[in-house]
Amino acid sequence: MRVFRVPQEWRKPEGARVGFVPTMGALHEGHLSLMRQARRECAVVVASIFVNPTQFGPNEDYERYPRDEAEDLRLCESVGVDAVFAPDVRTMYPRRTTVVAVRGVTERWEGAFRPGHFDGVTTVVAKLFHIVQPDAAYFGLKDLQQCAVIRRMVEDLNFPVELRFCATVREPDGLAMSSRNRYLTSEERRRASSLYRALCECRSEAAEGRSLAITLDRVRMRLEQEGFAVDYVAWIDPQTMDPVDRLKEDSRLIAAVRLGGVRLIDNIGLHED
Ligand code: PAJ
Repeated sequence: MRVFRVPQEWRKPEGARVGFVPTMGALHEGHLSLMRQARRECAVVVASIFVNPTQFGPNEDYERYPRDEAEDLRLCESVGVDAVFAPDVRTMYPRRTTVVAVRGVTERWEGAFRPGHFDGVTTVVAKLFHIVQPDAAYFGLKDLQQCAVIRRMVEDLNFPVELRFCATVREPDGLAMSSRNRYLTSEERRRASSLYRALCECRSEAAEGRSLAITLDRVRMRLEQEGFAVDYVAWIDPQTMDPVDRLKEDSRLIAAVRLGGVRLIDNIGLHED
């Protein structure tokens, strides 16, 4: 496995399908599932490890975000990644004069609670796409709005890349895997799984035909009773991220909550997960 730290060290192999998995490191089974899917579908698999400062707010966890490059490289190698791009901040941002910003689909939910977050994501992903020049890129549905935003960027800016969105990998108790789960105390970790259970219950109620507004009131109440501070919980259209008042086949239930100092996001579809 090759590790490259500056764009000039990478030359796209000719005639081989290149699959790309961008990450911020602190790798877990969620990340590895994307790499394994890329491995199955592509001749060459490239991952990136870069904790992107521009997608963190001033009061967020950029400084304390978990970093363990040696372990991450070992994990990449274990799932058959061919090359890892692991630049430093000055390589990626010698200046910060150009920003890639997607409007509309970025405005609600994570965009509202984390101002500037998606501009950081689209700017870094656009740069990574230009550097790696992948044929296919792999993203997790765990970050549903990120998927919608990247899809829009790729369409609007004609990136010649096929996007592959992959199912959320969960812990045995249902908690969606996340690098940030390691911030949870053991007590919080035990309580965290009720987020997924509450979402599943809300989905059952909606599937039985209850009004969506009522299912949302009930799940919000349940989450607050369990000790979560609820940033949002909503039924949405995954293409536009707009709320829906009637279920369609592809509608999804999204939520963001805080437990102690840790923010958790999750989402489920009507039929999957
Ligand atoms: P990061 O949080 O490291 O996630 C990297 C990729 O792994 C994302 O596509 C994310 O959706 C996916 N992922 C995370 N947890 C997952 C899980 N439990 N199941 C399946 N996939 C999961 O998302 C980012 O980094 C950054 O915003 C990035 C796209 C790298 C840009 O900086």
